[in-house]
Amino acid sequence: MSPKDQIKALTAELRQHTYNYYVLAMPTISDYDFDQKLEQLSKLEKQFPEFLDPESPTQVVGGDITKEFVTVKHRWPMLSLGNTYNEQELIDFDQRIRKSIGDNFEYVCELKFDGLSMSLTYENGKLARAVTRGDGAQGDEVTTNVRTIHSIPKKLDNGNYPDLFEIRGEVFMHLKAFERLNKERVDNSEVPYANPRNFASGTMKLQDSAEVARRPLDCFLYGLYTEKTLFKTHWESLEAVKNWGFHVNNHSRLVSDINGVLEFINHWDIARHDLSYDIDGIVIKINNYSQQQELGFTAKSPRWAISYKFKAERVETELLAVTYQVGRTGAVTPVANLKPVLLAGTTVKRATLHNADEITERLKLHEHDTVFVEKGGEIIPKIISVNLDKRKPGTKAIEYINHCPACNTKLLRADGEAAWYCPNDEGCPPQIMGKMQHYIGRKAMNIDGLGDETIETLYRQDFIKHISDIYHLFERADDLKKLGRFGEKSINNMLDGIERSKQQPFEKVMFGMGIRYVGETVAKKLVAHFKTIDNLMAATAEELIAAEEIGGRIAESVTEYFADESHRQEIERLRASGLQFVAEEKEVNLASEKFSGQSFIISGVFEKYSRDELKDIIEQNGGKILSSISAKLNYLVAGENMGPAKLEKANKLNIPIISDEELLAMLS
Ligand code: IVH
Repeated sequence: MSPKDQIKALTAELRQHTYNYYVLAMPTISDYDFDQKLEQLSKLEKQFPEFLDPESPTQVVGGDITKEFVTVKHRWPMLSLGNTYNEQELIDFDQRIRKSIGDNFEYVCELKFDGLSMSLTYENGKLARAVTRGDGAQGDEVTTNVRTIHSIPKKLDNGNYPDLFEIRGEVFMHLKAFERLNKERVDNSEVPYANPRNFASGTMKLQDSAEVARRPLDCFLYGLYTEKTLFKTHWESLEAVKNWGFHVNNHSRLVSDINGVLEFINHWDIARHDLSYDIDGIVIKINNYSQQQELGFTAKSPRWAISYKFKAERVETELLAVTYQVGRTGAVTPVANLKPVLLAGTTVKRATLHNADEITERLKLHEHDTVFVEKGGEIIPKIISVNLDKRKPGTKAIEYINHCPACNTKLLRADGEAAWYCPNDEGCPPQIMGKMQHYIGRKAMNIDGLGDETIETLYRQDFIKHISDIYHLFERADDLKKLGRFGEKSINNMLDGIERSKQQPFEKVMFGMGIRYVGETVAKKLVAHFKTIDNLMAATAEELIAAEEIGGRIAESVTEYFADESHRQEIERLRASGLQFVAEEKEVNLASEKFSGQSFIISGVFEKYSRDELKDIIEQNGGKILSSISAKLNYLVAGENMGPAKLEKANKLNIPIISDEELLAMLS
């Protein structure tokens, strides 16, 4: 290939990767490989400057803007950092600095958080705007979503902060939350995210801030931008913003020379595995602001800072087979079974394959291929690519299955979805068992004496086909004994546990039913809002959306579930067995009767209170909460981001629209 064509091909490839990473939040190569290719392109461009494209990925920061959000120009461009991968490159960086500003300077070492960068603007101590990095010059305004991040102050109480400032940091998801929510996604037949970074960035791109609020994100702040320089050093500014109430990472260190930097790196190369969040490297910054200014910037990054990236561990191994799992919602997940291999301290035997396209389009896997497996920021090892040099001639390409591996029903794929699923929810064993196993689980009905294996045995021996059959095991105690699988004591334990589960509160039953998108939190919110199963079954999608944290996707899933006659029958069977389908009444001591006879709807997002808190205030003062706007309504309490349809309806009916502050003023 001519150098010109080589540059062209590399440019196109890197653009695609940039798009996958920034816009789709679904990178298909590792950061390390990306940087290697970028480096290769940069070398070629230096050698043949006549072919340099001004829009080359080496010349721009990269990224794109999602269409649905308002685009905002950054007051100060959001640049990226130069990367280094070994000690020598860092020592070279240190020498460049010395050449420029002499020996009298300090470094601040920080962790490089693996999330998405965010710029926050505060006006008069209030969070005014949150903007993503976008292409570095302008980004998406995502303030409503960012408001759901607890660690980001909406209003500052302490400190001598300026009227206007910008503060930048990294939004990320803790590993625990990532694992929990990803498991929920698998349970709900949704495609799991590959790593917490993609989960965080996918979350920020959502239009439904109720869904964003369900996904706990956090943010470490690491850069202050003001019109007038307030501090002499970066370290002082970090200390100050910590006092203003921002979440600043406490592992940052001030060191006097490059040896201190190298010590910091060596420590965190190991200790990073004990953190509760992912980092992908270390950021090194010159501490003094006037020295930073002296060093200045290149087109895309500051000369006063650099990052050191940890190398993702990668190994080669053989693909033994691709197997398929069917989840309780019918989603089929392909899994690569690998020849066991040691990677980042653990033996890896399996790797995720995500979906059909991963096998047939991206990797184009053949039987017994030798594959590269990596565990970078990823929790679950991932197949990065195939070592084609080692492919044995004549091996067959792996084809995705088109029938359910468990019940042989033809698989379906919904428009626009990546996952295939088995539609035979009433007859497919792993789906039926999975639903019952979910129901008895610790977070749902927590039935002691009944475990996943027992469910499997009881199902295979024709004792239980539906959840409600669990409550008819009492009548079959003798048959259970005859099975010879369980002793008398364990049968009694099982039956006691089943009996006790009848007292589990409605929200646990609701979660246990396993309705798509109804996780623990959503179940609680639905029960708190609708109080009884009958109200819930009768609710329209619009009424569901009026409940706190319930978005369109959940509303649709709930109405679809209750529209199914077999689900209604199952609920009736459970009700007949004595399960709880009414919310536990909390003792309400009325604070006053001031709102007696008045009705309210609360809509939108509020700065100081959650919708549930406002609801409690109204109810404790004798007021009523309605679920939809009608002429009967007395007040609409409106926060930010209220739907325009609601506003229009309230205006049409001449219903007074009040703020949370006005509501509270009515009480005083
Ligand atoms: S400082 C001029 N500090 O890394 C660039 N960035 O590759 C100032 N990042 O876009 C960035 N942890 O999203 C800085 N402690 C840290 C960081 C950090 C993570 C991210 C950030 C930035 C990217 C640059």
